[in-house]
Amino acid sequence: MGNCLQHSSARVDSTQSPRATSGGPQPLSWAVRMKVAIGAAKGLTFLHDAESQVIYRDFKASNILLDAEFNAKLSDFGLAKAGPTGDRTHVSTQVMGTHGYAAPEYVATGRLTTKSDVYSFGVVLLELLSGRCAVDKTKVGIEQSLVDWAKPYLSDKRKLFRIMDTKLGGQYPQKAAHTAATLALQCLNNEPKLRPRMSEVLAILERLEAPKNSAKLSQSEPHRQTGPVTVRKSPMRQQRSPLNMTPTASPLPSHRQSPRVR
Ligand SMILES: Nc1ncnc2c1ncn2[C@@H]1O[C@H](COP(=O)(O)OP(=O)(O)OP(=O)(O)O)[C@@H](O)[C@H]1O
Ligand SMILES: [Mg+2]
Repeated sequence: MGNCLQHSSARVDSTQSPRATSGGPQPLSWAVRMKVAIGAAKGLTFLHDAESQVIYRDFKASNILLDAEFNAKLSDFGLAKAGPTGDRTHVSTQVMGTHGYAAPEYVATGRLTTKSDVYSFGVVLLELLSGRCAVDKTKVGIEQSLVDWAKPYLSDKRKLFRIMDTKLGGQYPQKAAHTAATLALQCLNNEPKLRPRMSEVLAILERLEAPKNSAKLSQSEPHRQTGPVTVRKSPMRQQRSPLNMTPTASPLPSHRQSPRVR
């Protein structure tokens, strides 16, 4: 797990131009998105389950670095905080983090727990599913907030497609997408105690990625349970987008402009 915390030359956001590849940058496939989610979940699980627990506190797309194989590594431990000791369940801190990712109870009270990181992970998972930024000031009304906009669609299998990234071109296993969406919703629960632990999140994501499951279901065959999944690149040519990336330039939106919650 030490690897998760190493420096990398790639990153998840896309503030720099993607390196040109033949045909230009391609949107991240479903499989790669899940790999990134699993890698990041491993990093948080490692921190939360360490003997001296660490709460990361600023989990967001731009702090996930990727190597050439899309292995995720967490960067920027500037805000990380030692977890509570003894019987205490939280640490009280000055509220810091990034708007759009910070858990509501943490913003409201400064009470920081590992479940604050779980909330932020839910936001990043939503970004991976939808290809949208946590906060997008170019949008109007509720759509400015990814969580507020997407939440109502996450639990309904029939509506989920409305928030799925169109750049996936429908190439994702429906059942796995539904499980991931349900997981995101659990992570985003307003009641921190009801959010899963990161180790549970990781276990669910790893089961999704297991060949037995990931090799299932394409959108056109929603009820098929067997056979290899084709996680193809979208046939459509893509404009440069948050999830267009090469290993050096990366899948998720830039949050340089994200306002700090302080
Ligand atoms: N080792 C690295 N290799 C490549 N890009 C990096 C590396 N470290 C940081 N970056 C990228 O540089 C940009 C600025 O990073 P920086 O950490 O300063 O800001 P941020 O992640 O947007 O916000 P924060 O200050 O909250 O972490 C981000 O887009 C980040 O992904
Ligand atoms: Mg950073």
